[in-house]
Amino acid sequence: MNETVPALRIQNLSKRYGRTVALDGVSFDVPRNQTFALLGPNGAGKTTLMHILCTILKPDSGVAEIAGFDVVKDPLEARDRLGIVFQEPSLDDRLTVRENLNIHGLVYGVPQSLRRERIAEMLELVELTDWADKPARSLSSGMKRRVEIARALIHDSEIMLLDEPTVGLDAQSRQRIWEYVRRLQKERQLTVLVTTHYIEEVETCDQVCIIDNGAVLAIDSPGALRHRQGEQLLKFVPRTEADRIEILNRFSDRLALLQGTTEIALKADDDFIESFLDQFGNRVRSLSTEVPSLETAFLSLTGRKLRDRDADAREVTLAFGKRGGEHTR
Ligand SMILES: Nc1ncnc2c1ncn2[C@@H]1O[C@H](COP(=O)(O)OP(=O)(O)OP(=O)(O)O)[C@@H](O)[C@H]1O
Ligand SMILES: [Mg+2]
Repeated sequence: MNETVPALRIQNLSKRYGRTVALDGVSFDVPRNQTFALLGPNGAGKTTLMHILCTILKPDSGVAEIAGFDVVKDPLEARDRLGIVFQEPSLDDRLTVRENLNIHGLVYGVPQSLRRERIAEMLELVELTDWADKPARSLSSGMKRRVEIARALIHDSEIMLLDEPTVGLDAQSRQRIWEYVRRLQKERQLTVLVTTHYIEEVETCDQVCIIDNGAVLAIDSPGALRHRQGEQLLKFVPRTEADRIEILNRFSDRLALLQGTTEIALKADDDFIESFLDQFGNRVRSLSTEVPSLETAFLSLTGRKLRDRDADAREVTLAFGKRGGEHTR
């Protein structure tokens, strides 16, 4: 393993399906041993990027490298380094859990004794040892996902690609999947590229890349994304329409969030809050402050850039739905 090259290097990657632009000049690097999240709504281009990385799909232009190996020029070298969990379920339901894992090891040329050892180790990790000889079809969706994670690591993968590993699962199963991923990442020094719809899942990732319509909207650590909102958010509802218009005009550069709510949120610090209250204290109601969450940071960064049309607005709300009880408006 060459330590000087990043785990993943993506430069100006573009891909169209007919007239649909799925990826539009995407660039980013993922350093080794990081958990890097791709966050975006349906149709953002996440799976297309994953498929290019795992050599299923060729890009129209641009470069993608896995540990320094170009996915188009050196697909075998690139693929050998990857453990992949596809968005669509991909276990053979007729085979047992162990048989599914064993076939994967065979395909990747893992010697028999090592295969046996790894299968036992990985089943232990995902807490499915007792299910090893049951047919895959008898497992729940969450358990199947766990088998797929185990399978991705039967060979010597350095980089794990997880395409929506938790979508459609209940909260407990989602949490468990993340526990395994984190444990693996730490113990095996893996690099993890994970796609998700769920904002709360990216809170613990090292970097987050927000993607929509095939383009990168922001890349940063969750903390830094939050920080772009300033220290605090000052939230309130103006008393009259005239108050609203005046406040919006006056503080347009501080506006943090306006979507689907009568509430205004301004980026603030203590000094600003003091002077705002002096001037507008009696012209607003429901005044509160909060530390910016990743969700408000996300909406503020991308809200107006995410697809504007009504139908799509509904989709965005679903995809980036609010966390239970928080910031209910
Ligand atoms: N095989 C295909 N043929 C035609 N269009 C496609 C194909 N695969 C994807 N697309 C289109 O490309 C765009 C990106 O799709 P992609 O599956 O990469 O998005 P995604 O971010 O993975 O979405 P989701 O969250 O729903 O999985 C979408 O507009 C999609 O309709
Ligand atoms: Mg997808």
